[in-house]
Amino acid sequence: MSTEEMVTPESVGGEPFVTVQQHILQEQKRFPGASGEFSWLLSGITLATKLIQAKVRRAGLTDILGDQGDVNVQGEVQQKLDVYSNDMLDHCLSMRESIGVLASEENEHPEIINHTSPNAKYAVVFDPLDGSSNIDVNVSVGTTFSILHRPFGEGTDDAASWVLQPGSKQVAAGYVVYGSSTILVYSAGYGVHGFTLDPAVGAFLLSHENIRMPDQGKYYSVNEAYRDSFPPQYVKYLDHVRSGGLGRGYSSRYIGSMVADFHRTLLKGGIFLYPPTEEQPDGKLRLLYEANPIAFIAEHAGGKATNGHERVLDIVPKSIHQRTPLVVGSQVEMDSFEVFSNG
Ligand code: AHG
Ligand code: MN
Ligand code: MN
Repeated sequence: MSTEEMVTPESVGGEPFVTVQQHILQEQKRFPGASGEFSWLLSGITLATKLIQAKVRRAGLTDILGDQGDVNVQGEVQQKLDVYSNDMLDHCLSMRESIGVLASEENEHPEIINHTSPNAKYAVVFDPLDGSSNIDVNVSVGTTFSILHRPFGEGTDDAASWVLQPGSKQVAAGYVVYGSSTILVYSAGYGVHGFTLDPAVGAFLLSHENIRMPDQGKYYSVNEAYRDSFPPQYVKYLDHVRSGGLGRGYSSRYIGSMVADFHRTLLKGGIFLYPPTEEQPDGKLRLLYEANPIAFIAEHAGGKATNGHERVLDIVPKSIHQRTPLVVGSQVEMDSFEVFSNG
């Protein structure tokens, strides 16, 4: 039995509560014959992210800050916490029989677990630690994940085919932000729900049920240092937003951890952009484990996500670490962005 199932009302001060595990089991009742495998799979993610958050919370006290001394497949310097987070997800998920393939930002190739077994029904793709350049300065970081069904038909012996599916095929997706509190946000296609980790009991408790993104916000979020190298339609759009074209004044916020910048956008509305730049014509963010889970959550909360040309969830991936521009946010900001990107 997991820690979450052992929580008693007394341990949370007698208040009514729902743990993430209970919530998932409840949601599964929609599917007659559901085996509970999916909730077992998700408990691997919640366990790993609890281990990661415990390490993040003690960063500075233990020897976990700084570079690992290696460079990952993206050519980026790996932080020790990137490696630790990757190991925890790997460890917790590779024990789940229902998972056939795992793919991570930190591993060049997808990892085959037991993909030939008929019990293996899912692939999990993740960015173990997003925003890791922020770790050493105590700024929010997170984990993003995407869950896909095993593909049907020919060619499914190839691990890559398990994960090279458009985001619209995600069974569930979500993220955890290690911020002022630790929050897990997830959707299995029936609403977007947030669970805050109660550190006293070690359980994620439902704190944000059925999150809806406001139709319009007051923040835009983009790294404006690159403005001169954005395509002209992005510059024109940002000028439009700043000059009151959307009928209200805007402020800017940019943390540099996509997951935290998106979490604010989800709760408060507005828009987050990581456009193409001259140096990175496909943007910086990775389609499978950054843009797709964020786009899935955004759409299920009433928002939108595009790469500037098409819906993020419609992009058919060609490679595991493929990058994509990402523009995600509320209806009003996104509708206006589409006018600029089409013109
Ligand atoms: P990661 O730490 O997983 O490599 O991701 C970092 C990403 C993302 O979180 C953030 O939005 C972006 O890098 C920030 O990049 P810039 O410094 O170029 O703005
Ligand atoms: Mn990332
Ligand atoms: Mn990362």
